[in-house]
Amino acid sequence: MRVLFATSEAYPLIKTGGLADVSGALPKAISQLPNFSGDIKILLPAYSAVLAKLQSIHVIANISVLGQACTLIAGKMPDSDMTVIAIKNAELFERTGGPYSDENGVDWPDNPLRFGVLSRVASLLCSTSTPIKDWLPDLIHCNDWQTGLTPAYMKLLDNSQTKSIFSIHNIAFQGCFDANWIEQLDLPAAHFQMNGFEYFKQLSFLKAGLFYADQLCTVSPTYAQEIQTTQFGFGLEGLLQTRTADLTGIVNGIDAQEWNPATDVHLPKHYSNARITGKHTVKHALQQQLGLTIDANSPLLGVVSRLTHQKGLDLLPDIMPKLVEAGCQFAILGSGEKKLEASFNALAERYPEQISMNTGYHEHLSHNIMAGSDLFIMPSRFEPCGLNQLYGLAYGTPPVVTATGGLADSVCDTTDLSLKNNIATGFVVKSVTSASLLVTIRHAITVWQDKKTWRKIQKNGMTRDISWASSANAYLDCYKKAIERELA
Ligand code: ADP
Ligand code: GLC
Repeated sequence: MRVLFATSEAYPLIKTGGLADVSGALPKAISQLPNFSGDIKILLPAYSAVLAKLQSIHVIANISVLGQACTLIAGKMPDSDMTVIAIKNAELFERTGGPYSDENGVDWPDNPLRFGVLSRVASLLCSTSTPIKDWLPDLIHCNDWQTGLTPAYMKLLDNSQTKSIFSIHNIAFQGCFDANWIEQLDLPAAHFQMNGFEYFKQLSFLKAGLFYADQLCTVSPTYAQEIQTTQFGFGLEGLLQTRTADLTGIVNGIDAQEWNPATDVHLPKHYSNARITGKHTVKHALQQQLGLTIDANSPLLGVVSRLTHQKGLDLLPDIMPKLVEAGCQFAILGSGEKKLEASFNALAERYPEQISMNTGYHEHLSHNIMAGSDLFIMPSRFEPCGLNQLYGLAYGTPPVVTATGGLADSVCDTTDLSLKNNIATGFVVKSVTSASLLVTIRHAITVWQDKKTWRKIQKNGMTRDISWASSANAYLDCYKKAIERELA
């Protein structure tokens, strides 16, 4: 089986969030399955960071798509044997700033063209006009809106015989642009309609993916249900209801090469469920590094997140003074909404020895917060899957979550019954309000003080299998289903 995995980010080459973690880990995990015989290649834009990190680069073709001259280069991931095909066009992709926006967080105005090129190349590689002559994929796995036009190009322009799967990592990001882009993106105007890529008079990359792909996936079973409702579907619930038979929800896993407290290169001390004491050393070092009072008896609450409405962290500032007065500390790492960054900064100024606020993107600090904290706070309003709560489970840092999407599918609330059944792994907030979050955190801290019960909860999370293996198997089943369905 030949699979092309198209994505706009993949760890360790380039990362803004969980999509990169998944794109870095899932293709690797599938290729390592004993029942997979075949070959997966990742396709992504050659941003400067990608060019700097990709190993053994060589040119495979020079092509022109959507009027843009591109060089396709192949290389290897720095940490594995995975082949990556990168689309090099300096003007489009080698810019200072992020993959989607400039240094001030403003979206690149030509994003439709940039990700139109990604989608167009992906489709081309799945057609008989592919420049890679000896490698025509049986299946393409597209991810999020940036690759959404791929299935449309495959059906409408390339008459591709390759099967397509489109994965929704976050339905809130829809890639909607002015209809004027249609011509430059070589899209047939006749399909700018409800049964096509039109969405409320705009061109939607995401809708194109959902409409034209053969199969759809999303990153948890609960989110697969939720996005078919008005509350969570962001206007696409109707379309998804018509495709319910083609939609599968599979929870993400974690890459144990990157996220394992027993081997994590970022930690000052390693630990595991069997030897948990190292976790106390990490907490001590984290408190020291962040200028917090060094105190093993002070519950340390960790946050690592994009600061957006989705993540529900705006519920936190109101209740932080109460929690600090009750003896808690906070280690926060996050960037996004400036107002929320300012609230956390103001609180950190008011309580410098109890609250540490860190902005920017810091891989090293994120691992140390995950390992050094006692509780991980993640009260999302919606969460397609979420990786941080999974890291929390693996690192003996029970998560406090809301019951939505992948959080509902991966965290089991601590109750007398779940404790008795050895399945309690975290704490579930009853409603998305500051008051409810406060009640749940207070409850968690009471349980934390009972060290024997706490160890049980940590053990339940740390010994759960949250590696990619079983999810990779579920994706492989989807791949097979997509390919075989057509043959049947
Ligand atoms: P999302 O993709 O919606 O942001 P996930 O929980 O799936 O949420 O994944 C977030 C990923 O990004 C995790 O690997 C997390 O550690 C990482 N992350 C988020 N913010 C930062 C940050 N400021 N610095 C470092 N890593 C971050
Ligand atoms: C998105 C979602 C997050 C998910 C990630 C990877 O960024 O917001 O919940 O874990 O994609 O699938």
